[in-house]
Amino acid sequence: MFRSVILAAARSSRVERIVETAPVARDVVRRFVAGNGCDDAMRATRELVDQGLCVSIDHLGEDTLTADQAAAAKDEYLRLLKALTDAGLIRPDAGSAPGSRSAAAATVEVSVKLSALGLLLAEDLAYEHAHAICAAAAAAGSMVTIDMEDHETTDQTLDVLTRLRADFPETGAVLQAYLRRTEGDCRELATEGSRVRLCKGAYAEPESVAFQSAAEVDRSYVRCLNILMSGPGYPMVATHDPRLIAIAEDRAKWFDRPPGQFEFQLLYGVRPDEQLRLAGNGYTVRSYVPYGTQWYAYLMRRLAERPANLAFFLRALKSRK
Ligand code: FDA
Repeated sequence: MFRSVILAAARSSRVERIVETAPVARDVVRRFVAGNGCDDAMRATRELVDQGLCVSIDHLGEDTLTADQAAAAKDEYLRLLKALTDAGLIRPDAGSAPGSRSAAAATVEVSVKLSALGLLLAEDLAYEHAHAICAAAAAAGSMVTIDMEDHETTDQTLDVLTRLRADFPETGAVLQAYLRRTEGDCRELATEGSRVRLCKGAYAEPESVAFQSAAEVDRSYVRCLNILMSGPGYPMVATHDPRLIAIAEDRAKWFDRPPGQFEFQLLYGVRPDEQLRLAGNGYTVRSYVPYGTQWYAYLMRRLAERPANLAFFLRALKSRK
C-alpha cells in the first residue's frame, strides 16, 4: 500500500513539481544522486574507485518523448565515456575478449535506460542509440548494462539486448525477480559470458505479471540466483538485502564460483559501509551512480523501497520549516 502510493506519485507530474521545488529536495537527492552534471558523476566515481569499488554510471532520464531528446541522451553518454577516458578511469587497452570472464570486471561501466534513448517512440531508434553507446564503450575499454524498466517494456528491452549482443556480447542484461516470467528469462540468459544483473524490481506491477508479497519476491530471487550462479554466465547480484547477500555468498561457494566470477551491486548512497565490507572481503562490488537533473522518478523509487528513506525525507522537510 505504502509502496504503491509512492510509486503512483512517481508518475505524477503535479507531485513532481512540488517535490522538485521543495527546498529540502536538494539535500535528500544528494544522498542518492551524485549531482546534476558529468563532473559530479566523475568526482563520485573517482572517490568510489579509490576505495576499491567498481562503478556503473547512469545518466538519469526515462520519459523521452521526442527524437531530439533521445539523441541528446545518447550524446550525453558519449560525452561521459570521453570524460572517463580523459580522466583515466577507463582505458582502451583495459578490455579483454568481449564476453570473457575477465571482461566482466571492467572497473567503470555505464547503465542505460532504453526509454531515455527513445524506446517509447520506436524500438529501432533506441537500438541505434544504444548501439552507438556500446560501440563507444567498447572502443574505450568499458561496457554497457541495459537497465530494465516496467513490465510493458520487458520484451522490447530483451529484444534490443539480443541485437546489441550480436556485436557486443559483453552487454549486460537486467532481470527483475518480482516478475513471474523471470525464472524462464534467467534460464535463457544464463549462457557463457552473459552478464546478468538480478534485482528485485522497482516498479508498481500488477499481480497478473508480478509477485506481490516480499516473501514471494525473495523466494523468486533465490530461485533465479540458483540458476545464474550454477550457469556459465557472470551473475551481478544487485541487492541491499542482508539475507540475499548472505545466500549469494553461500551459493557462490556451493557452485565453486570464486569472487572474480560474479559481483555484488548496490546503489550509490545505500549501505555504503556494506559496500566497503564486501569489497574488503575480496568481492567485486559495483556501486550504481546516477547523475543528472531528471532525478525525480529515481528518488521516488528509492523512497518507496524503504520507510526509513521516506522518514529521512520527511525529517529533512520538517527541519526546514
Ligand atoms: P529491499 O528494498 O527489499 O530491502 C531489503 C533489506 O535490505 C531491508 O529490509 C534492509 O535490511 C536492507 N536495506 C535496504 N535499503 C537499506 C538502506 N538504505 N539502509 C540499510 N539497509 C537497507 N530495479 C529495476 O526495476 N530495474 C533496474 O534496472 C534496476 N537496477 C538496479 C541496479 C542496482 C545496482 C541495484 C542495487 C538495484 C537496481 N534496481 C533496479 C532496484 C531494485 O529492483 C530494488 O528496487 C532495490 O534494489 C531495492 O531492493 P533490495 O534488493 O535492496 O531489497
